[in-house]
Amino acid sequence: MKRSLIKQAFNNKELIDSEVLIKGWVRSLRKSKSFCFIILNDGTTQKDLQIIADESLENYEEFSKLGIGSSLGIKGQLVQSQGKGQNIELQAKEIEIFGGVDESYPLQKKGTSLEFLRNISHLRSRTNTFGAVFRLRHVLAMATHEFFSSQNFYYLNSPILTGVDAEGAGEVFQVTTMDLKELPKNDKGEVDYSQDYFGKPAFLCVTGQLEGECFASCLGSVYTFGPTFRSENSNTTRHLSEFWMVEPEVAFADLEEIADLGMDYIRFLIKAALKECPDEMAFFQKHYEKGLIEKLEKVIDSKELRITYTDAIKVLQDSKEKFEYPVRWEDGLQTEHERYLCEVYHQGPVIVTDYPKEIKAFYMLENEDGKTVRAMDVLVPGVGEIIGGSQREHRLENLKLRMKEEGLKEEDYWWFLDLRRYGTAPHSGFGLGFERAIMYISGMSNIRDVIPFARTPKSLDF
Ligand code: 4AD
Ligand code: MG
Repeated sequence: MKRSLIKQAFNNKELIDSEVLIKGWVRSLRKSKSFCFIILNDGTTQKDLQIIADESLENYEEFSKLGIGSSLGIKGQLVQSQGKGQNIELQAKEIEIFGGVDESYPLQKKGTSLEFLRNISHLRSRTNTFGAVFRLRHVLAMATHEFFSSQNFYYLNSPILTGVDAEGAGEVFQVTTMDLKELPKNDKGEVDYSQDYFGKPAFLCVTGQLEGECFASCLGSVYTFGPTFRSENSNTTRHLSEFWMVEPEVAFADLEEIADLGMDYIRFLIKAALKECPDEMAFFQKHYEKGLIEKLEKVIDSKELRITYTDAIKVLQDSKEKFEYPVRWEDGLQTEHERYLCEVYHQGPVIVTDYPKEIKAFYMLENEDGKTVRAMDVLVPGVGEIIGGSQREHRLENLKLRMKEEGLKEEDYWWFLDLRRYGTAPHSGFGLGFERAIMYISGMSNIRDVIPFARTPKSLDF
C-alpha cells in the first residue's frame, strides 16, 4: 500500500472513510484503559494527525509504551472525528514500529528555548516552530523562481569560488590547499601564491553580482540565488557568515525600475506565504509576532516610503529620539537609525536612496553632485536592511577612477571592465538577503533560526 501524507489526509476529502497508510513520528502518546491516542506528525503540514489504537491490536503492549520521537507506520481507517478541534482521525488496524527512542531524546518537553534548540540543530526541525520555518523557507524559495521566471529573468548559477573581493569590503574567506605550517615564500618573503591550488589567492564569493552583470549584458535580465560568504565579525541577530542571496541584475534599468522590482518581489513573497502557508503563518502570529499577518497585508496594499539618504539624515536629526550613535551624514546609518525610519517614522518598508559614495561599493553610479551614488537600501520593520542595490557605473573611465580611489587593481577586474569596453549600457541590480526576508515574513527574530544550519563566528557545528 502506498503511503499517504498527513497533509493529504487533511486536504483530500476522498480519503475520508477509506483505508490509508500513514508514516511519521510520535508527537505524544496517551494511554487510557483499553486504547491509546497517538499524535503523529510527518513534516508535511503544521497539523498533527490523531490516531486511536485499540488494545486488541496484536503489538499493543509494545507500541503503547513508545516515547515521543518514535517512528511508526500506521494502517487504518481515516474517519471524521467527533472530538472538538480535530476534524479527522485514524483508527489503527496495524502498527509497524520503525524506531523507538530512549530517555536521552532531548525533545521531550514542550516550550524548550530557541537558544537550547540551536545547539541541537540536527533535531530542532522536528519541532512545530522549525517545521513551520522550513516549510515557509521552501515556499519562499519556489516563489522566488516563479516570480523572476514569470518576469522573463534567467536563473544564473554564479560561481562560489572566486579570485576577487567583489564588494571590496575585505570580508572574504580565503580558500587554500597550501600547508599553513609551511607556506611557500618568494624572494621578498611574501606568500608565494603561484604554488597555491589556483596559482593565485582564492576566496568564497561575497556576492554573485559581478558575474550577474556579465550575463545581464547578454541575456538582459538574470538572477542568482545561492550561498554567499562573509567573514565580517558581527555576532548579531541579523548576520550570518554563510547566507543565501537573491540577486537580480537588469540591463537598461535605472534605480527606480530596480526599486519597483524589489518591492514587487517582496509583495510576491508575502502573498505566497499567506496563500500557501496559512497554518504556519497563523502559528507564527500566535507564538512569535502579534499582528504579523495584518502587518504583511498592509505592505501588499500600501505604498512604501522612498526617501533620499540626505533627507533621511534630516528626519533623524530633527527627531526627538535619543539615539545611541550620533546621526552624521558621513557615518552612514546604524541599525537603530534604520529601525526608527521604518518603525516610527513610516511604519512599513522604506527605500533609502543616494548614499554617500565613501560608504558604498566601488561599482555604483556616481551622481552629478560628485558626493553620492545611485544606491538603494530597502529597510523593513523588525529587521532593518533586507535589500541592498544600485544602478551600476557603466562608464569605463568613471569606474576606473572609483576603483583607483578604493585602491582596487584594474588587472584583478579586467573582465569586469571589459563589460564597459564592449557595448556598455546602463544597468541596475540588487541583492535580497534570503534569511532576512524569512525573518521579516515569519516574525522570527534571530537569523540563526531561519537557516537549517547557522554558520557564525566561532560556530561551525553540524
Ligand atoms: O548590501 P549587500 O552587501 O549588497 C551586495 O552584496 C550587492 N552585491 C547586491 C547587489 O546589488 N547585487 O548585501 C545584500 C543583502 C543585504 O541587504 C542583506 O539583506 C543581506 O544581503 N546580507 C546579509 N544577510 C545575512 N548575513 C549577512 N552577513 C549579510 N550581509 C548582507
Ligand atoms: Mg548593504
